[in-house]
Amino acid sequence: MKVIETVAGMRECRRQTAEPVGFVPTMGYLHEGHVSLVKRAKEENASVVVSIFVNPTQFGPKEDFKNYPRNTNRDLAMLEPFSDVVFMPSDVEMYPDKYNTWVEVNGLTGQLEGASRPGHFRGVSTVVTKLFNIVQPTKVYFGQKDAQQLLVIKKMTADLNINLEVVACPTMREPDGLAMSSRNTYLTPEQRKGAPVLYKALSLARDKWSKGEKDAEKIRLEMNKLIRKEPLAEIVYISIADALTLQEFSHLMQKPALVSMAVKFGKTRLIDNIILE
Ligand code: PAJ
Repeated sequence: MKVIETVAGMRECRRQTAEPVGFVPTMGYLHEGHVSLVKRAKEENASVVVSIFVNPTQFGPKEDFKNYPRNTNRDLAMLEPFSDVVFMPSDVEMYPDKYNTWVEVNGLTGQLEGASRPGHFRGVSTVVTKLFNIVQPTKVYFGQKDAQQLLVIKKMTADLNINLEVVACPTMREPDGLAMSSRNTYLTPEQRKGAPVLYKALSLARDKWSKGEKDAEKIRLEMNKLIRKEPLAEIVYISIADALTLQEFSHLMQKPALVSMAVKFGKTRLIDNIILE
């Protein structure tokens, strides 16, 4: 496995990399969710590139960029069996002095995560465009865990005619249902005990829906009630929306619905979602 830290080095390496190339962008502090994407990329491609870059431009000024968990040695050991190349640029390599170009996807970025994290998706789409241009992959792998991010990346690649295939991968969970996330490491033992309430609320929504409940507001209220029973949880949003346009539903229709939420435990903000279709 080659570890490369410069854009020029990555370009040089790309020339010698067997096609098709599968690419998994990450911010590191890897867990089995990330590894599931890398394994899938290995199954479907001749070579695999993973990037590890904690992208400063997708964090708000009051967010956890400085404290975002990092453990490069552990990450590299986890990738060794599955990845051919790890691209690990520095901040100045990606954003040199006077860097001034941004990619913005309109329409899908003002709501949900975008509403509570202004500028977040501008940072994501900009860094992902740069990474796509540097790595030039055939297929790229993103987790359904970040459902809105996945939609934004799909829309961006279509709108900008970026020549690659976006592959969506299922959310990996802990045995108690909590979606794996690098941020779970911030949770205190008490908060960790309460954190499966996100998945419980999503499961409640699925249950109501499968029994024929069509009133989206009723389901949101039931989810809200369940989460509020968990004293350490603070709801940021609960949404039941069109899974393609992210327009909120008042009634569930024949279209796939994205049920999603952000819930804070202390300063730690957790997100999760399921799709009803
Ligand atoms: P990061 O949070 O490190 O996630 C990298 C990829 O792993 C994303 O596609 C994410 O959806 C996926 N992932 C995270 N948790 C998962 C889980 N439990 N199951 C399956 N997949 C999971 O998302 C980012 O980094 C950044 O925004 C990035 C795209 C790298 C741009 O900076």
